[in-house]
Amino acid sequence: MTTDDFPWQDATLDPDTRARLVVAEMTEEEKFSWLSAPMAIPLGDTPRPDGALGSAAYYPGIDRLGIPAIQQADASLGVSNLGNVRPGDNATALPASLLLGASFDIDMARRTGEMVGQEARAKGFNVQLAGGANLVREPRGGRNFEYVSEDPLLTGWIAGHSVAGIQSQGIVSTMKHFVLNAQETGRVMVSSDLSEPALRESDLLAFQIGIEIGQPGAIMPGYNLVNGEYASQNAFVLNTVLKGDWGFAGWVMADWGATHSTEAILAGLDVQSGANLDPEPFFGAPLRAAVAEGRVPQARIDEAVQRQLRSLFAVGAIDTPPAPGGTIDHSAHRLLAQRAAEGGITLLKNDGILPFAKGAARRILVVGHHADKGVLSGGGSSNVNPVGSFTTDGTDIMGMPVQRIFHPSIPVEAVRAESGAAEVTFHDGRDLGAACAAARDADVVLVFAEEWRSEGLDQSGLALPDDQDALIAALAGVNPETVVILETGGPVLMPWLAQVRAVLAAFYPGQGGAEAITGILWGRVCPSGRLPVTFPASEAQLPHPAQRDPQTTTSNPGMERIGEIFHVDYDVAGADTGYRWFAREGHVPLFPFGFGLSYTTFSHSALRIEARGRNLTAHVTVTNTGRVSGSEVTQIYVSAPGLTRRLAGFAKTHLAPGQSRLISVPLEPRLFAHWQDGWHIAAGTYSVCVGADAATMTLCTEVSLPDHAFRP
Ligand code: BGC
Repeated sequence: MTTDDFPWQDATLDPDTRARLVVAEMTEEEKFSWLSAPMAIPLGDTPRPDGALGSAAYYPGIDRLGIPAIQQADASLGVSNLGNVRPGDNATALPASLLLGASFDIDMARRTGEMVGQEARAKGFNVQLAGGANLVREPRGGRNFEYVSEDPLLTGWIAGHSVAGIQSQGIVSTMKHFVLNAQETGRVMVSSDLSEPALRESDLLAFQIGIEIGQPGAIMPGYNLVNGEYASQNAFVLNTVLKGDWGFAGWVMADWGATHSTEAILAGLDVQSGANLDPEPFFGAPLRAAVAEGRVPQARIDEAVQRQLRSLFAVGAIDTPPAPGGTIDHSAHRLLAQRAAEGGITLLKNDGILPFAKGAARRILVVGHHADKGVLSGGGSSNVNPVGSFTTDGTDIMGMPVQRIFHPSIPVEAVRAESGAAEVTFHDGRDLGAACAAARDADVVLVFAEEWRSEGLDQSGLALPDDQDALIAALAGVNPETVVILETGGPVLMPWLAQVRAVLAAFYPGQGGAEAITGILWGRVCPSGRLPVTFPASEAQLPHPAQRDPQTTTSNPGMERIGEIFHVDYDVAGADTGYRWFAREGHVPLFPFGFGLSYTTFSHSALRIEARGRNLTAHVTVTNTGRVSGSEVTQIYVSAPGLTRRLAGFAKTHLAPGQSRLISVPLEPRLFAHWQDGWHIAAGTYSVCVGADAATMTLCTEVSLPDHAFRP
């Protein structure tokens, strides 16, 4: 093939021009083949399309023009293989995105993104349905493990760098689920209502920052409605904000079974995904008819195709197409998954028992329902199922069984390898009496508590399920040397907190999770995770303490609808998500956002803010004042009258004992601003502080800023 045959092969042209040249040669048939597709996994009567690798979606290639097929796979935590559609296909399972959020480590976000991109590419996929960037507004949300945090800046920076890492491998990544897709209960029937200024300053801001950093080739609107209109056909969200204000040049693909009309294309939707789950082939024959009748301009069809091609060109997916059968260094990737977990697992309590000295405890009892099988992961389309995983029943999404997967990283074995203990015994904890009897004889009791969450299924309440609170309290009652490791998809209550000696929040720690946990317990790793979500002291502290009964609504696409569309009023907290709500209401949480203990100590000094126009930078010296090497997360918060304290920048710095470093942290100007038909920084004095966490400021300075208005 030469550029004479195909002028768009000329890589010196910009991706938009190249895409337009292709579209000009395409037939209507070819264009429409890229506007809708069924799920590319056999489901009910719909078989796997010819040519599809077997994954979330497939759009046929246009061989005569040298354009490859689009093959789309899930998700952020690794390459999924839902329903084992590609039998035996193995992928590396990263920790939950929430744990990546807890690492506050943009380099790790990029490196793990690169890993996902490399594995996807090696399997032949050119689009990865990654980039979960919804704010955690509902701490009980079933998919919070796929999202980064409750904070717009942390979410935007981490999701953005993760997407940039994926796309650096020459494939497109999405960012999803745009926007306010905060809960699973009734996710296809819930309208998330939030007034524009608050929306711009919170959930939209997370995506905006993430898109600026990651330049995702595609955006996936959520199943939910936003202010009364489905996100997939919400002209304000898609046309006005995303494509208009932000100038987004990529394509908007519906979530699977989330298209509601042909006219959605006029509101900004480019592709109907998972069309077999929708009641109509909206972007098939009905859209052709709409074009023929002049209700949809032909130019809009061309644009929808052009947006896909330009994103594929932009990342190199057409110039250097992925092919199945590529090499994956599974052991290097497993180690990366472990390193990611080591950087995000958060030490919440330590009364001095940790780190354990090797060999000091002779008899260790490991308790946990599956601590002899693996570490828990979250369920749904994002699930990664590496060879050696252990599975039990989970739930059902759209008629497909979703299993509860325990990644092959086994706590009891990791404890045996790391502890140097003469005797490590295991008890699953289901027989309370027997577990307590075993605990009496142990020097140390390690309890691995678990809470499974999944797409399509919120947690009911914030308590650990399956009587695990009673189990922990009973074990700590008979043996005070009890340490709890939480494998959860978000915050949980800890009624036993005062009785135990240490608590680790391990979230879903992925394929090297158990080794990461024991590395922290025995001091091979100095803990450096910081909470990406507030851990409430009670549900009464939440903006919406009550939860809707999932039986009264429909949570999955393609299912019969129960009840009416219902509304959740997010103006209750407005832009003040998470810790900002707690500060505004004066609630004292169990553990605040940004909280996490270390085995060393750090101090900050000489904080100075440099302001050049709206380019703001914090300069501060960080010193490791303790006895071991470790990493400090420097969190910079801004506040002012009328501006609830907000995270405006952060950095993670590794320091040896006694070492100091002057670091420069860029501060996000939009966090100094309110949205008033554009960003507006009011003239005045702003307090800028280093915080140990969102509730504890340790070093503050002030900066005076002039009145400043800017967009977008
Ligand atoms: C999920 C998306 C996912 C898609 C394809 C949907 O159920 O909400 O996040 O990318 O399925 O598997």
